[in-house]
Amino acid sequence: MKERIKELKEKQELAQLGGGEKRIESQHAKGKLTARERIALLMDEGSFEEIGMFVTHRSQEFGLDRQKFLGDGVITGYGTINGRLVYVFAQDFTVFGGSLAEMHAKKIVRIMDLAMENGAPVIGLNDSGGARIQEGVVSLGGYADIFYRNTLASGVIPQISAIMGPCAGGAVYSPALTDFVMMVENSSYMFVTGPHVVKTVTHEEVTSEELGGASAHSTKSGVTHFSCANDLACIEHIKKLLSYMPQNCEEESPQLPYKASEESRPALDDIVPENPNQPYDIKDVIEGVVDDGSFLEVHKDFAENIVVGFARLAGKSIGIVANQPAVLAGVLDIHASQKGGRFVRFCDCFNIPLLVFEDVPGFLPGTDQEWNGIISNGAKLLYAFSEATVPRITVITRKAYGGAYDVMNSKHIGADMNYAWPTAEIAVMGAKGAAEIIFKNEINQAEDPEAKLKEKEQEYLEHFANPYRAAERGYVDEVIIPSETREKLIKAFSMLKNKARTLPRKKHGNIPL
Ligand code: HXC
Repeated sequence: MKERIKELKEKQELAQLGGGEKRIESQHAKGKLTARERIALLMDEGSFEEIGMFVTHRSQEFGLDRQKFLGDGVITGYGTINGRLVYVFAQDFTVFGGSLAEMHAKKIVRIMDLAMENGAPVIGLNDSGGARIQEGVVSLGGYADIFYRNTLASGVIPQISAIMGPCAGGAVYSPALTDFVMMVENSSYMFVTGPHVVKTVTHEEVTSEELGGASAHSTKSGVTHFSCANDLACIEHIKKLLSYMPQNCEEESPQLPYKASEESRPALDDIVPENPNQPYDIKDVIEGVVDDGSFLEVHKDFAENIVVGFARLAGKSIGIVANQPAVLAGVLDIHASQKGGRFVRFCDCFNIPLLVFEDVPGFLPGTDQEWNGIISNGAKLLYAFSEATVPRITVITRKAYGGAYDVMNSKHIGADMNYAWPTAEIAVMGAKGAAEIIFKNEINQAEDPEAKLKEKEQEYLEHFANPYRAAERGYVDEVIIPSETREKLIKAFSMLKNKARTLPRKKHGNIPL
């Protein structure tokens, strides 16, 4: 028996080494941690249980018969993060460049199946040269097995992808199917076709970093939700993000202890400027309302004219969607609609109530927006809110104009409670544009058309630049003093905590993708 135990221990030690000491050093030289180091930092100490440590590939071609590594380039297993069960895989770049092939894929599939059956999140730490070239179609099949499971798991368990090295070709589609993608700056990239192919096809000269680095995907494409300075920051981000989520779609997010105290927030009374055209930072409003330091912004650097993220209110996890008057006056455009819509759907999948702060002058005009589909993209946000059955509350801080009024979680599309600050302006459009249209003849026939326009603009403003017309109809439930917002929201969300609304029976809806 002793000999057998010795043999086992030697094998375990060998598996710990992945591709070997030298390759581990080269990983460190690139500023990257190894797969095992990443798992050790991610999971609660001593909680990780590995599955499939001795799995190897069974390929015979292109010299693979002479090269086998225990684990086949991916470490898979389960454990806890802050005491909660998660399943994890970490690709080991020191083994065949972390490339994915038959057995490597089987290991990932196995933990995805376990995660689904046991209702716990899956976290993927990706660091891979893509499909293992030597294994051919078997590698492609392995990817597809994973994509299929990503799709089935969507909305059932949270899925988080960290990109901690290269991620090329089809390898990008598994992360893209998951709920959140985070990338490490300067050591990770994602693209469908790399710089070499790009140069051949479009003659563009571009580096990997420019084409698919963390900066490109967090600001330009929106593929990544979080850009992290290094491996450690990335791992800390995963833990924080998870803390706002339930384990699966049947559960609620964990609630932190909260002791009711003075909930008035006088600073909120001074945020919205007197001049309705002067910008302010909606994040001051968000941070002023939610529990101290609890706001975790998602997609921070993408479509900054809308702000989305998680926070806690009286200890309970909520999702926030807010127009940002400090960027493009808070207008809704294609990217903002996509960003907002996707976030709303995540929250709705996982029973996270939604809080909306609205200050929106409308949709962005222009040929660029129209030709690129602001109609169908704007409809995504509209669809996402309309479909959401979680508790939903809106606070109109200032402008709620036009179609954007309807879209931003209005009463009409199913919001549960709608509040307005006294500074709210709820109208079909801004006063100048409205006066120019409805008083066109009167203005044109006036002796002084300029003065007439001003007079009519003022008339329109007096009528609509307030929340009371909407409140008369019950579209707004209450006009509230900003400093009282937090207290109102705590009470309203508590009142809505057992909300049960079911959608019409259907296979699934057809969101305008
Ligand atoms: C097999 C691979 C590999 C791969 C890397 N390696 N990628 N082995 N299949 N896809 C091996 C290398 O041969 C090398 O082995 C080791 O991993 C480290 O690679 P290096 O090139 O030395 O590292 P680096 O310079 O850091 O470059 C990393 C890299 C590069 C940028 C990822 O290796 C690369 O371009 N790889 C190929 C990427 C690719 O085209 N993948 C296929 C995408 S298509 P040794 O033994 O020398 O250490 C795809 C289709 C999926 O994924 C479709 C699904 C639908």
